[in-house]
Amino acid sequence: MRGKFITLEGVDGSGKSAQAALLADGLRESGFDVIATREPGGSPGAEDIRALLVRGAVTRWDPMTEALLHFAARKEHLNHTIRPALDAGTWVVCDRFADSTMAYQGYAHGLGPEPVRALYELVVGALAPDLTLVLELAVDVALARATSASGEDRYERMGRAFHDRLGDGYRDIARLEPDRCALIDAGGTVDEVQSAIRAAVGERLGVGLA
Ligand code: TMP
Repeated sequence: MRGKFITLEGVDGSGKSAQAALLADGLRESGFDVIATREPGGSPGAEDIRALLVRGAVTRWDPMTEALLHFAARKEHLNHTIRPALDAGTWVVCDRFADSTMAYQGYAHGLGPEPVRALYELVVGALAPDLTLVLELAVDVALARATSASGEDRYERMGRAFHDRLGDGYRDIARLEPDRCALIDAGGTVDEVQSAIRAAVGERLGVGLA
């Protein structure tokens, strides 16, 4: 049986990466084969492309170039990591996926939704996450919490207005696809947020989690 594809989304500092790792642990403890992966990155070529995106000057790329680089990385990640795992029956927990391109490049950088949808169709096609957990947190709190690996702070330097538009983007994404997306309040403790995530996974995907 094909594995399930779960993605986590949210603004920088929403705690997604830690929550993704805890969810993967919980699924493993419940007996599933699971890989935890991330975007941009998750395969050797995609990690090379990541380095171009998360470092350097804020104005380094035109918004369309940036969307193309994210989708180029995504193509590699799909080919080498995501599709082989799902086909083998392994569950994939992915820290960010294409909703990040919609929120960051489509909304916050002002590219608009249509180019992002067109690229999705070309690069990803019919595959979609079975469940997307959208972590919601006030921008001020999130930016104060955001801690990047050294030098990987290009997006965090994009300013307050950029991050406000991101929040709007994620809310629209969740509103347009309520069957796929579950909004999670990320304002609680790590344990509280993880409990809400496990409840959503159990309810939406019909699995019992410890
Ligand atoms: P990370 O810090 O969550 O690993 O992600 C790196 C940054 O890349 C993060 O600030 C969001 C940004 N990003 C986009 O702008 N578009 C995308 O499609 C993806 C996957 C990430």
